[in-house]
Amino acid sequence: MTQKVIEISGVELALTEPAEIEMEWVGNEDLINQVKAAWLVVDEEDLPLTPRILGKPGIGKTTLCYATGKQLGKDVYIFQATMDTRPEDLLISPVIASDKSIKYVASSLVSAMITGAVCLLDEGNRMSEKSWASLAPLMDKRRYVESIIAGIRIYAHPDFRLCVTMNSDASTYEVPEYILSRMINIYVDFPNRADELKILKYNLPFASDEVLKYCIDFLQNAHLNNEPIVSRDGIKCLRYYIKQRKFHGKDPAKLDTTEFKKTILHILDKSAIKFCPDEYQEYVKNNKGINKSNFDTLLEDTFYSSENPDDF
Ligand SMILES: Nc1ncnc2c1ncn2[C@@H]1O[C@H](COP(=O)(O)OP(=O)(O)O)[C@@H](O)[C@H]1O
Ligand SMILES: [Mg+2]
Repeated sequence: MTQKVIEISGVELALTEPAEIEMEWVGNEDLINQVKAAWLVVDEEDLPLTPRILGKPGIGKTTLCYATGKQLGKDVYIFQATMDTRPEDLLISPVIASDKSIKYVASSLVSAMITGAVCLLDEGNRMSEKSWASLAPLMDKRRYVESIIAGIRIYAHPDFRLCVTMNSDASTYEVPEYILSRMINIYVDFPNRADELKILKYNLPFASDEVLKYCIDFLQNAHLNNEPIVSRDGIKCLRYYIKQRKFHGKDPAKLDTTEFKKTILHILDKSAIKFCPDEYQEYVKNNKGINKSNFDTLLEDTFYSSENPDDF
């Protein structure tokens, strides 16, 4: 793969490639439209806004940003922010070439800025204030960043769009106020039953309706209680359930509620079992107190007394 190289103020800059992932958004189109509206430019004097996508881990934030960019026919670059992300990591990194010269490599963010693509700054809440500060001019009228290492200023292409995702419950640092003021908030909440069924079917087209329905009921019961259990967990449970059934020579299309609950233990934990449709009524009846379900008793007798969780 040959790297695209461009020159800015006499400095050669190697660009990175956009992400190419099979990732579509299904269900709530309104969220896609909220991102599209934020990115719209309505006048020569207007600027695109930077959406900040908020929501629980696994609720679909990354998928939403990526899919919106793709729906607009744009390349999408993903920058994964961590607590170790330094300002220069966001912009330009020097590397030693084979002839011992120094080469400059543009980050995915800068590559998107130059090519007029979308940059998804994923899990931005993990990044320190120092790193955020280097992006401040990019988010206002200036639309540029300054790389100290390469000694250059880089202006964003007019088609460049930025989007930030943040987990609502896992901030490493506070995001500075002057950055927050440059963004608009878009909240991703739990999908309704119909949309969640579409999400599960899209991700697992080979799952049977019987097993899907049980999983949807489980997820929706958990959502009603605002538990941090998301579609991603449902997808994982279904995937593992189907694998287990197949592996043991059983029909993966058939629902075995005890086996499904065992799968939940591998993906989530025991406290999630009460949201299974055949446990939930009992849980509600007992006024949400600690309720020993039939499955709990079965577990104590077998699962926890065994070295091997699959020994029952
Ligand atoms: N609306 C949706 N359409 C398609 N897939 C979805 C949707 N919501 C969630 N998912 C699936 O759930 C998983 C988690 O989504 P992700 O975007 O990674 O969540 P987050 O970034 O909020 O942690 C992905 O595997 C994705 O396929
Ligand atoms: Mg994500």
